[in-house]
Amino acid sequence: MKRDFIAIADYTPAELQEMLELALLLKQEWKTGGNKPILKGKALALIFQKPSLRTRVSFEMAMVHLGGYAFYLSPQEIGLGKRESIADVARVISGYVDGVMARVFDHEHVVELARWADVPVINGLSDYNHPAQGFTDAFTIFEHFGRVKGLNVTFIGDGNNVAVSLLHIVAKLGGNFTWAGPEGYEIPEKAIAEAQAFAAASGSTLRFLHDPHEAVHDADVIYTDTWVSMGEEAEAEKRKRVFPPYQVNAALVAEAKPEVVVMHCLPAHRGEEITDEVADGPHSLLFRQAHNRMHAQKAILARLLGGL
Ligand code: CP
Ligand code: NVA
Repeated sequence: MKRDFIAIADYTPAELQEMLELALLLKQEWKTGGNKPILKGKALALIFQKPSLRTRVSFEMAMVHLGGYAFYLSPQEIGLGKRESIADVARVISGYVDGVMARVFDHEHVVELARWADVPVINGLSDYNHPAQGFTDAFTIFEHFGRVKGLNVTFIGDGNNVAVSLLHIVAKLGGNFTWAGPEGYEIPEKAIAEAQAFAAASGSTLRFLHDPHEAVHDADVIYTDTWVSMGEEAEAEKRKRVFPPYQVNAALVAEAKPEVVVMHCLPAHRGEEITDEVADGPHSLLFRQAHNRMHAQKAILARLLGGL
């Protein structure tokens, strides 16, 4: 049976840990002479309903390094669910390629695509979650600290798609997760309920607060993301009034552990959710994290398309 990558929730802690270790091996292999062509002759379609830099280029280059091929399909070309039904797109494209990565607005659209496709479907961000990012984030933490278990990971800001996938992977792998953001912008209840079950199994602690200072105290990782996600542009003015107390700046970072690392999925809105001083400062893992998209996703591709 084919396997999709729609949510971190669909993978066991053991599978995630195995994939983290595979990502580390593939990164090492790439840095010391190049990857073996384990996806020789395989093709990945990249369907986008929203803009992207990292997701597009990192998936494309991951396929190239593994001996395969990837190509980009813009919103104008496919018209997913508009020009043609999602079920029809899924069944047609399954005859041409070995896998599909899709970035969508409505999470149900990527679920629907996976339901009808005969080939593996990878979620490249939906309004609900961003599992390829969450997996990369765990990989970056694992690479830096040697583990995720027992670390205190704090997300400051909007309870958005990136927060959901980070919460889920940290809870699955036994890290402690804290969120702090304004009232009305919490992580969705459904995601929290799922995370509580993962945490009960892994022994992790979860906290959902409104005070950023309490949230960063004892943090090993401080994570933030935009206050206005793609598709929420109409709310931008309101959000920019509500979120400033949650800016990740040098004063906030100084309240965490001295060796704390700062992460951000990017694109960053410098001067809003994060200051230049922090983004470019000694605690920042931002660019390593961005580069790790390519390495971490190789493990996802190897597993789904290469049968590893
Ligand atoms: N972090 C991330 O997914 O970036 P892009 O939107 O540029 O793909
Ligand atoms: N939360 C952001 C992430 C971008 C990679 C968004 O959805 O726009």
